Amino acid sequence: MRIERTQWDPAQNALEESLFHTANGYLGVRACPEEGAPAGVPSIRGTYINAFYDVKPIRYGEKLYGFPETQQGIVNLTDVQNLRLFLEDEVYEPLRAGEVLACRRTLDMERGLVTRFIRWRSPKGREVEVTVQRMASLAQRELFIMRYTVKSLNFSSRARLISREEGAVTNFADPNDPRVAGEALQHLRVEEVRPVESGGLIRSRTLASGLELAVAVGYALPAGFALSVEARPAALEARMEGSLEQGQSLTMTKYAVFADSRRHPDPAQAAPVILAQARALPVTHYETRQRELLEAFWLRSRVTVRGDEALQRSLDFSLYSLYCSAGRDAVSSLAAKGLSGEGYEGHYFWDTEIYVFPFFLMTDPALARGLLDYRHTILPAAREHARIMGHDRGALYPWRTIAGSECSGYFPSGSAQYHLSGDIAHAFLQYYYATDDLAYMAERGGEVLVETARLFLDAGHWHEGSFRIGAVTGPDEYSCVVDNNFYTNAGAQETMRGAAMITRRLMEAGLAGRLLAATGVTREELSAFLRAADAMYLPYDETLGIHAQDDGFLKLATLDLSAIPQEKFPLLLHYHPLWLYRHQVCKQADTVLAHFLYEDLADEDTMRRSYDYYERCTTHDSSLSACVFAIMAARLGDMDKAMDYFRRSATLDLDNAHGNTRDGIHTANMGGTWLGLVSGFGGLRVKADGLRLHPRLPGSWDSYSFPLCWRGSRLRVHVTDVGCRVEALGGEALTLRVYGQPVRVAPGQAAEVPLPREE
Ligand code: BGC
Repeated sequence: MRIERTQWDPAQNALEESLFHTANGYLGVRACPEEGAPAGVPSIRGTYINAFYDVKPIRYGEKLYGFPETQQGIVNLTDVQNLRLFLEDEVYEPLRAGEVLACRRTLDMERGLVTRFIRWRSPKGREVEVTVQRMASLAQRELFIMRYTVKSLNFSSRARLISREEGAVTNFADPNDPRVAGEALQHLRVEEVRPVESGGLIRSRTLASGLELAVAVGYALPAGFALSVEARPAALEARMEGSLEQGQSLTMTKYAVFADSRRHPDPAQAAPVILAQARALPVTHYETRQRELLEAFWLRSRVTVRGDEALQRSLDFSLYSLYCSAGRDAVSSLAAKGLSGEGYEGHYFWDTEIYVFPFFLMTDPALARGLLDYRHTILPAAREHARIMGHDRGALYPWRTIAGSECSGYFPSGSAQYHLSGDIAHAFLQYYYATDDLAYMAERGGEVLVETARLFLDAGHWHEGSFRIGAVTGPDEYSCVVDNNFYTNAGAQETMRGAAMITRRLMEAGLAGRLLAATGVTREELSAFLRAADAMYLPYDETLGIHAQDDGFLKLATLDLSAIPQEKFPLLLHYHPLWLYRHQVCKQADTVLAHFLYEDLADEDTMRRSYDYYERCTTHDSSLSACVFAIMAARLGDMDKAMDYFRRSATLDLDNAHGNTRDGIHTANMGGTWLGLVSGFGGLRVKADGLRLHPRLPGSWDSYSFPLCWRGSRLRVHVTDVGCRVEALGGEALTLRVYGQPVRVAPGQAAEVPLPREE
């Protein structure tokens, strides 16, 4: 299971830095050239800790009431990637001088290692092979290990390695792209540089948020090499020197430990301790643990497709990347770009709950629960945000955030996306249906559900006997501040019903104490939730026979997307927002997504008409779109179309199809790829009354299979052209619905379910 590149194209350097980054949910290091990128070669040197942020002011031309004044952004950390190799009087600079005879970059997804190999002939004819192996340890989250191996092919010489930890780093910026920061700022101030015999420590603090970071480094040298470490201004420099004989290969190991004050009370004390523990063990210990953890990961998560190797690789890459991106503690979640780059500034959006959460829920419910914990942790900030936005009650989750407050400076496609509160409620409910974990609802879930339900009750109003929600933005950001967005209203309806249902269940089970103490929710309030939910207005157009995206969308000017030149896409970079808002044009799936998540609201014919209608309007300028169209095309039986969209989604980053993977991978799309396969082709639905599957085989595949976890039981589903086999691997016996029929499986058994004749 590998991703490999055997050619070096300077123009693709920043892209490859993202694709070959190493991460473990806590720490992420981009795959930047150790010797530095030559001038003119795009490179974004970056190292990040999930949820480690600084705060900066948001500058407005005209600032109105309630606009957020500051925003958080992920911080580029102390750079430990710098390593320079000197062979006598020559410096190893394969990208600048001499000749690259062979090169290979590999991501090994079973071992959790990234390797960069280069065979190089120096200008003076020395031939050398340099192999650099990197690992962000899955077993010890603070630990990053780099092994640098040099092999001389035709010479003997003195060899010198200079390793540098650079504390004076800035974040990346592109003033012309709203999807990355506009200004390159330095966020870390170095407070201490402490060399020690075998390495050293750099302690820094973020300028505005006051968070502390300690980076401790240590080296294991090749035999016969001597080490000296010196403090430099805001940096540490280690020199290692010895001799390299012809045919000999030497390995230097660098350990870097990143400890931050969001997880450690005293990072400068913790980092050296973790480093010492790490160095006391052989590197093979961490390599073995890495392999074991990944083996367990693949066992519970891998989807396999027979008949399409390239696609299989893309699927593996997506799931692996998600695993490496997801926060494992209550202060972090999963950023839009994971830990691979600075796009969207390390913020968490609805991407997590709607696109990525289902994958973890069905394969690693404990990790999924951790993502929910994060939302519970920031609930106080969501309450505060609701007050700022004029609501006396409830919690409004911010559109984009790290620590909990709203970080969007453009409210029409930011704070106005009230659906986020419904998306989060949806994830809590899905968790409850898939795990039956009422205790979690008692402890955390119920509170989030009640507070989000309150928000919707407060945000809406009654008009002509129905409950309506005005002035919000749905998922489609090319229509902003609209009335009665179908998707938002459907989510609000589910939230209010879900809050009432969970509260009742907790009361019946005698488990409502914590919820009542935290929220003071009353029976009258629950009835009000249900009244509003039952009377929820869901816009429908009688003439077209489809649900309208919102009250105004179908009355806007239409747009022929095929008449717009290719270079004008994505439209957001070429058209003023108002121009977009005036047209029936969608950046991404909106109503079509509602038909997937809230499928009981529309019959199949409505969904089909809706799909056809909105497909004509949708640019898929957002990477969150193609996968939804894949799922719904499969749901509606158009397998060819489903496959087209599915491929677009599966290969998006490896093909750099959106042209911006240099800023980081698109994690929501990666989750959407899993959804495309499992919920699209596999027809998986997580419902209050149980698990449902409706698997169909796309024409170009021989078979596919995927594992699932349901209420403590583990299943594997194999799909062929005649139907599917559901194998129970462990846990309790359970009944699920396959092709609409109840199927019971007990551990160690398998049920063969034929495809219904009419399909
Ligand atoms: C999409 C949003 C998404 C964000 C982060 C935007 O382009 O329109 O739906 O949440 O990217 O991935």
